[in-house]
Amino acid sequence: MAKKRYAVCGVSARAIYSYIAPMCQKFSHCAELVGLLDIDPLRFKVCKEAVPEAQNVPEYMAEDFEKMLAETKPDALLVVSMDCTHVKYIVAGLEHDLEVVCEKPMTTNTADALRVMEAEAKSKGKVICTFNYRYNPIHRKLRELILDGKIGRVTHVDLNWYIDIKHGSSYFHRWNRMRENSGSLSIHKSSHHFDLVNWWIDGIPEQVHAFGALNHFGPDGEFNPSKVDGRDCTTCTELMNCPYEARWATRNSSIFAADDHINAFDGKEPKYTNYSPHMCMFDSQINIYDTFVVNVKYRNGALLNYSANFSTPYEGYNLSINGTRGRLETQEFGGAGGAALPKFHEGGQYIDYFPIFGGRERINVPAGEGGHGGGDPLIREDIFLGEDPARKFDILAKSVDGLRAISIGDAVYNSIKDGGVKDLTSFIK
Ligand SMILES: NC(=O)c1ccc[n+]([C@@H]2O[C@H](COP(=O)([O-])OP(=O)(O)OC[C@H]3O[C@@H](n4cnc5c(N)ncnc54)[C@H](O)[C@@H]3O)[C@@H](O)[C@H]2O)c1
Repeated sequence: MAKKRYAVCGVSARAIYSYIAPMCQKFSHCAELVGLLDIDPLRFKVCKEAVPEAQNVPEYMAEDFEKMLAETKPDALLVVSMDCTHVKYIVAGLEHDLEVVCEKPMTTNTADALRVMEAEAKSKGKVICTFNYRYNPIHRKLRELILDGKIGRVTHVDLNWYIDIKHGSSYFHRWNRMRENSGSLSIHKSSHHFDLVNWWIDGIPEQVHAFGALNHFGPDGEFNPSKVDGRDCTTCTELMNCPYEARWATRNSSIFAADDHINAFDGKEPKYTNYSPHMCMFDSQINIYDTFVVNVKYRNGALLNYSANFSTPYEGYNLSINGTRGRLETQEFGGAGGAALPKFHEGGQYIDYFPIFGGRERINVPAGEGGHGGGDPLIREDIFLGEDPARKFDILAKSVDGLRAISIGDAVYNSIKDGGVKDLTSFIK
């Protein structure tokens, strides 16, 4: 069987560790990396040092996208660049009838997500959205239980997400801190969570309302050592007066709090040109929110209340799903910020099932191996080997799933900014 040829747009930390390394190592029998594209030539060096198997893969600057396609003839694009650049590569890939595997969020606003859907309708290609969190064993089990009718018709989901001081602050050090780059955290991060809910309950979101604020980061953050813009953790003279950084650093060694799961920022060597992932989290440039509460009404009548906090002492979530015939509950706690806390769920995470009339049933779900609760290795298999035919339910997300999650996140940002309930019915699919 011929190997499927992949070109990577955006040689990000995520691209290197989640796609390029596995493709060149574990999936080399069925996948071939044929091209790398980025705006920053240093990224090719960083990638090739991390993945020596990619040594001879041709490199292309962003303006040479068409040249890359002509010369390397990929079957598929892996779009793993800064979020706001996804739409350009997805639409261009679809215009060439390619398969496009895109990291979340598919786009940074609803209008761009609709552009993707339009381009896909005209293309022989298709879009796969990598909502890896669906593949976490506990999240799959929840989908199965709901599909099995254990709680009847879902009426209400209550989801509260906590992103700890290390993980949460990482977004405010990096490009993610600007609405124009990431769409804001209600899109960049919460699209994971909105997608999970949409998927669990087969929900098409129709109305969204939110309140939110920037409480912890930005110049008015309570732990800002002083109101000075333009600081960078690598050169900051106030580092040890910054409790977020001092939590991880000593006067003689600092590992810096910027860490989006993959330790892409460890080490002293710069990994990006003209960009630092260690920008001060208290800068006035920040234009997104770190705290929000959200209400969503779905077409099937289900309601969601959701909250996200990006500066909590530990990481995790509380979830309950109520239905006409019962209720499901689960909790996850951990994260880097939780290192000093007692371990929860020593025996693995579980789901409590409460039938509406009757006693509690505890369902233990063994954790998977690998990133995102074991989700990452499984989604890679579905991407590179094709979807598992033995699985009884849909799981690999499509562009419409990207649209639904993004349209909630975009409405959240706009509702916080302008007030009011945002109605999605005129465009949601
Ligand atoms: N699914 C997940 O759990 C998960 C986890 C982490 C990151 N991600 C996603 O992966 C993507 C990369 O995130 P990261 O934190 O690894 O990023 P990163 O900061 O490591 O890298 C971003 C890359 O994009 C490149 N870039 C910027 N503009 C570009 C352009 N116009 N064309 C091509 N490349 C361009 C940069 O040079 C850099 O190499 C994001 O979309 C992010 O949301 C997903």
